[in-house]
Amino acid sequence: MELDNTSILHRLLEDEEIRHQLDGYLQMQHVYSAAIQEVKTKLQILDEEFQSRYDHNPIHHMESRLKSPRSVVEKLRRRNEEVSSDSARRNLTDIAGIRVVCCYIEDVYRIAELLLHQDDVTLIRKSDYIKNPKENGYRSLHLVIQIPVYLASRTERVPVEVQLRTEGMDFWASLEHQMRYKSSRPVSADLQKQLRECAEQLAEIDVKMQKIYKHLQ
Ligand code: GTP
Ligand code: MG
Repeated sequence: MELDNTSILHRLLEDEEIRHQLDGYLQMQHVYSAAIQEVKTKLQILDEEFQSRYDHNPIHHMESRLKSPRSVVEKLRRRNEEVSSDSARRNLTDIAGIRVVCCYIEDVYRIAELLLHQDDVTLIRKSDYIKNPKENGYRSLHLVIQIPVYLASRTERVPVEVQLRTEGMDFWASLEHQMRYKSSRPVSADLQKQLRECAEQLAEIDVKMQKIYKHLQ
């Protein structure tokens, strides 16, 4: 996106405003980033255990992100919630996000189950968009969990959004996301249908690949 000088100035002023409104966001970021590290470590340990026991890595790769102050403010405004760090802490569960891209569908469920089984992990919300794909074809298993982060003077229970999906689901989701954000026009009904068909075909391939893998074992 090209920005002219006036828009750049507006952005800078707005950034200043956002920083002001989210006073205390820096300390908050530290806590959420610690939560991301903790959950990533848990997942890495599970993956390594599978590698040593079954010679199989269920996790292909992981990505993580901390929601930017701008997105936090935008989301609070969209929901007509008060704009402050406290309000973000109370109202948003996706400030810390981890995407876990697995090799096979069974890996997705196995990893989710093992993570949820751990004593310090509490499930807040589960949306299974693999069993019930979204209208547009989107598939993934979404978990919002809460884990304790041990700070110098207190323990804070922090929500983390974990999205688990296969390589096939990730391929579709990242291209669909790009198309939606890059295209200036709304996607036509026919293209929407084609996109949904792609998601369905990829889902069939996921099942087929899983079967081949099992035969080879
Ligand atoms: P948000 O307010 O957008 O965060 O939605 P939500 O908290 O109600 O949760 P939802 O499960 O609908 O989506 C959360 C996240 O999942 C999004 O931020 C995306 O990363 C991903 N996601 C959900 N739906 C889609 C989709 O149709 N396409 C793609 N590419 N990603 C999606
Ligand atoms: Mg969300």
